[in-house]
Amino acid sequence: MTNIGIAITAIGSATPKVSLDNQGLSQIVETSDEWISSRTGIHQRKLANTAESLCSMATQASLAALAQANITATDIDLIILATSTPDDLFGTASQIQGELGAVKAVAFDMTAACSGFIFGLVTAAQFIRTGVYQNILLIGADILSRWVDWEDRRTCVLFGDGAGAVILQASNRDRLLGFELRSDGSQNDCLNLSYQPQPKQIIEGVTVSQGTYKPISMNGKEVYRFAVQKVPEVIEKSLFRANIGVEKVDWLLLHQANQRIIDAVAKRLEIPPEKVISNLRNYGNTSAASIPLALDEAVREGKVKPGDIIAASGFGAGLTWGAAIFEWGV
Ligand code: ACO
Repeated sequence: MTNIGIAITAIGSATPKVSLDNQGLSQIVETSDEWISSRTGIHQRKLANTAESLCSMATQASLAALAQANITATDIDLIILATSTPDDLFGTASQIQGELGAVKAVAFDMTAACSGFIFGLVTAAQFIRTGVYQNILLIGADILSRWVDWEDRRTCVLFGDGAGAVILQASNRDRLLGFELRSDGSQNDCLNLSYQPQPKQIIEGVTVSQGTYKPISMNGKEVYRFAVQKVPEVIEKSLFRANIGVEKVDWLLLHQANQRIIDAVAKRLEIPPEKVISNLRNYGNTSAASIPLALDEAVREGKVKPGDIIAASGFGAGLTWGAAIFEWGV
């Protein structure tokens, strides 16, 4: 069989217009630029206003990726939206499909928090490998500012909003070289955005739950420990599956949660700093968007070139984590 390999042929991204720097945050909660930048590496984040929706940002990122791939929306067979913050709990992927006019495409949302882009990449790859679809649009997008407690300095300093999109196309050579996906629900309480039930009696003897979602709650130290231990493991496993040594990796591309996590993982894998992609300084943790957002910038800056081998890893709530080793471009 031919053309059941995967090529990641194009990328685009979009972020909100307004930035909030650490100095600005120190007017909201008791914090400082020094604390935030030294503990996280984050200097500013972009925050979506009420005119900016997940759908609008994701659509903008998708249009950029489609233009780069030199295909039209009608060529797309499948749209996967990795997000934890849809505009509509029933799913936002179909709205994006409608906005793009991707009339042939089936579209669905996928939730795996900050691992969403990697989980989405591997999911999309299965549809290509089985020969079912040829052109897939994968989007990672989140607006966590909607769900942050802006009075909680332990979390509100970390997150930002954004969207990134890639085009995956059937190819005669498979550029997804290896992957590993993991979950551990026993650690769910380390990081969540969970539904809080509120009883509402609708008729005598029948009470339903009409609650709301509580803002993000996180045990930062536990998440830090988890990431630094588990991320190198999945990258090593994925490299083993790809049958390539770590010295062949051109770029380490981690979920942009914290520069200290990125540095610790790179050190553990013995990947030198010049091979590490990082842009969280300007965007904070954009959850499912962070990997494609950082990759898009690196491609546009001319750092990442076709044929480069990328070791990417996402990790976060669930807990979920995963890695994918892939070759960029056609
Ligand atoms: N400004 C000033 N002081 C602060 C702030 C802040 N923004 N936040 C916490 N502090 C204080 C704490 O109150 C504490 O003070 P205390 O000792 O008087 O109680 C002190 O700083 C140390 O707090 P810690 O939480 O122990 O700080 P730590 O060094 O662990 O750094 C951090 C916190 C940056 C959150 C770190 O634990 C981390 O990065 N963890 C990983 C988080 C992460 O990556 N989350 C995203 C996962 S992705 C997803 O799925 C959404």
